[in-house]
Amino acid sequence: MQTACTKDELRALLAPVRGKKIVLVPTMGALHEGHATLLRQARALAGDSGCVVASVFLNPVQFDNAGDLAAYPQTPETDLLICRECGVDVVFMPTPDVMYCGDRSITLEETHLSTVLCGASRPGHFAGVCLVVNKLFNLVQPTDAIFGKKDYQQLAILRRMVRDLDIPITLHGAEIVRGEDGLALSSRNVRLTPAHRAAAPTIHRALSAAAAAYAAGAAAADVCAAVRRELTAIDGVKIDYVELVDAENLHAVTDEARPALLAVAAFFGDVRLIDNTELRRNV
Ligand code: PAF
Repeated sequence: MQTACTKDELRALLAPVRGKKIVLVPTMGALHEGHATLLRQARALAGDSGCVVASVFLNPVQFDNAGDLAAYPQTPETDLLICRECGVDVVFMPTPDVMYCGDRSITLEETHLSTVLCGASRPGHFAGVCLVVNKLFNLVQPTDAIFGKKDYQQLAILRRMVRDLDIPITLHGAEIVRGEDGLALSSRNVRLTPAHRAAAPTIHRALSAAAAAYAAGAAAADVCAAVRRELTAIDGVKIDYVELVDAENLHAVTDEARPALLAVAAFFGDVRLIDNTELRRNV
């Protein structure tokens, strides 16, 4: 495994593999088993002859809240160990100064899918994600990239970016990785208090019950209300949103025959957790 800290180092490491399958897994570091799963999928997709690239970059541009950025865990040594164990070939670990010019003045804004769910409560977040992912795509020029479905909206927006900008990269969505108690793995979980860590699996339990109820015909509003009730019963939890939307355009469901998405964001103390489940009517 080789590590690049500058764009020139990255280009030099990738020059010999141009023309082969190059699979990129962008991350913000603080890697856990969820990322490891993406990295192993990348290794399998690239095969023996291809190249797996992981980026580890805590992207300041996608944080709308300075406190959230400052509190974001950073574990570079462990990240490198996990990358090595998962068979990554090249790790790109730039600093913000390497990544961005001080007087950068181009923004990249998706204007439909970004207006709802996390986009509604985190202004500028997805523009920051699109900007950094676009830069990573240009720098690495992968054939494929893998993103986790826990950030379902992010994946939908990046798919739209690839489609609308004709970016010649195949995106793959990886299933959510959960702990044994059902809590979706997240770099933010380590910041939960013991009480909130114990209560956090409620999110997944409530989403699973809601998925079953929706499949059996329950109304969208009732399904969301049931999830809200479960979460508001937990001390110190503040719901950001609980919404049932069309799984593709992320706006209100207009055709119940199409796949839907039930998405949740909630603050457990000052830790914002997200989770989701894909839904279908059993008809
Ligand atoms: O999902 C993440 O960790 C980040 O949003 C990403 C895609 C690495 C961009 O910084």
